[in-house]
Amino acid sequence: MSESGISRIFVAGAGLMGSGIAQTAVQRGLQVLLYDALDGAADTAVGQIQKRLERAEQSQRIPVGAAASSAALLKAVALPSAADQSHLVIEAISEQIDIKLAFWSQMEGICPPEVLFTSNTSSIPITRLAAATRRPDRFMGMHFYSPVPVMELVELVRGLVTSESTYATVEQLALEMGKVPVCSTDSPGFIGNRILIPFLNEAMLALQEGVGTASDIDQVARLGFRHPMGPLELADFIGLDVVLGICRVMHQGLHDPRYAPNPLLERMVEAGRLGRKSGRGFHEYPG
Ligand SMILES: NC(=O)c1ccc[n+]([C@@H]2O[C@H](COP(=O)([O-])OP(=O)(O)OC[C@H]3O[C@@H](n4cnc5c(N)ncnc54)[C@H](O)[C@@H]3O)[C@@H](O)[C@H]2O)c1
Repeated sequence: MSESGISRIFVAGAGLMGSGIAQTAVQRGLQVLLYDALDGAADTAVGQIQKRLERAEQSQRIPVGAAASSAALLKAVALPSAADQSHLVIEAISEQIDIKLAFWSQMEGICPPEVLFTSNTSSIPITRLAAATRRPDRFMGMHFYSPVPVMELVELVRGLVTSESTYATVEQLALEMGKVPVCSTDSPGFIGNRILIPFLNEAMLALQEGVGTASDIDQVARLGFRHPMGPLELADFIGLDVVLGICRVMHQGLHDPRYAPNPLLERMVEAGRLGRKSGRGFHEYPG
């Protein structure tokens, strides 16, 4: 048994983040049940993860045999009740408070009291989600960065009443998953989005005011600041709907105009230009 004592994880949400978290966990020897409310989504994600692992093995990024041994630890499940045998739940479902509150009250009914609960929310207060359960001391934030198998950082977020032992166990698990944990209080956007959102907003404002083209704005950050991606490219990568949601929650929480959603961002989301996932955002992604 590992130092954290956690070997069975239930990951809810088989989208971009949930599938990345599931892949990372099985690559580190943890057993994962992957669940999504959308019919077939977890099966599709498991198939995609298997393909990614096979490609990693073919290109010698992981040892021979590792794809099969990791894949054997991963299973798609169709019902949330499968969470009852897990040591820990990681929730990576859609960033909508009502959906998350309903999910957590459902989990409270399914999981024995000792099961630890964590949310990958980008912007919803952990303390608010924890209040949907009867175990707020065993609830905290585990905010991974995308793409999860590649990015080392995880922000660990203490809710108001998260216990020391919950924090220590989840911190140990984060290390066992190969991540570098940092600790944040339950402040809107935690540390990462607090810094990132004003940066993205300023880039959108510069575009709106015609200070530079989208390509030139991104080029400045890439070549001038050595960022691997420019801010508009990064917003496209995250998903403009996701960025908009984060801005709204942070603006409401911090009452600071630096976090107010940029009107151009709002229009783009209304027009269905969601970034990479819809083929077009600030840049175009043919195919
Ligand atoms: N996209 C990012 O870069 C990023 C980074 C860090 C954190 N996050 C957070 O991670 C979470 C997931 O984001 P994502 O980008 O993976 O979203 P996504 O839209 O790719 O995936 C969300 C998945 O949740 C599923 N879902 C919705 N309601 C559900 C329910 N009740 N039970 C089970 N599954 C349900 C959806 O069917 C969908 O497959 C959000 O809270 C988001 O804020 C996102």
